[in-house]
Amino acid sequence: MTQAAAALARIRLEALGCERCPLYRNATQTVFGEGPVPASVMLVGEQPGDREDIEGHPFVGPAGRVLDKALAAAGFDRTDVYVTNAVKHFKNEPRGKRRLHKRLTAGEIDVCKVWLESEIKLVRPKAIVALGASAARALLGRPAGIEALRGKTLAFGEAQSLFVTIHPSLLLRMPDRASREEGFERFVQDLARVVSAIRSSETRKASRRVTLRNSAQPAGFSVR
Ligand code: URA
Repeated sequence: MTQAAAALARIRLEALGCERCPLYRNATQTVFGEGPVPASVMLVGEQPGDREDIEGHPFVGPAGRVLDKALAAAGFDRTDVYVTNAVKHFKNEPRGKRRLHKRLTAGEIDVCKVWLESEIKLVRPKAIVALGASAARALLGRPAGIEALRGKTLAFGEAQSLFVTIHPSLLLRMPDRASREEGFERFVQDLARVVSAIRSSETRKASRRVTLRNSAQPAGFSVR
């Protein structure tokens, strides 16, 4: 295990006992991010849903299934991606046997940001994808209109890129099949843009390495 992975494992343990805001009271457990450390890409959702809260893993419910399908269609392997949420507890209101999902406040997003910041620092993604308005708010530090930011590559941190797209649960709420299909296609296109940004940054780095190697070699040496 690398030092970064060990540090993140310690932070995850710490987050299991998080009582920084009252959301832990109605939640089963903290749902921390999961995936490789380091990872080229980090996906940030909103908060765990009912299924995630019970199972303790991010994006394992209905929205997670849409996300998995879109990732595969965009050319991602989910196991290569670090997946997390802006807020680590499920905000809900018990109603009889059911639990109603509740909208997060800006204050709850801000209080929980300490965990997301640690994840970004240790996972060191080249690209971060905000899925929906809460994730965008957490990452940008201000409210943001998703449609205005979709399709753009925003500078983030020292050398990272931030992409903003919809939350996959939006597709589940669309009333008819045609809009769901069209929405899904646009979502896949947004994710595919991330794949090509990562690939072109890797290609640039590789060609820089070849150039450096070339200039460091004695005259007459050729790089194949
Ligand atoms: N929605 C999210 O934002 N995150 C999850 O983990 C599941 C559903």
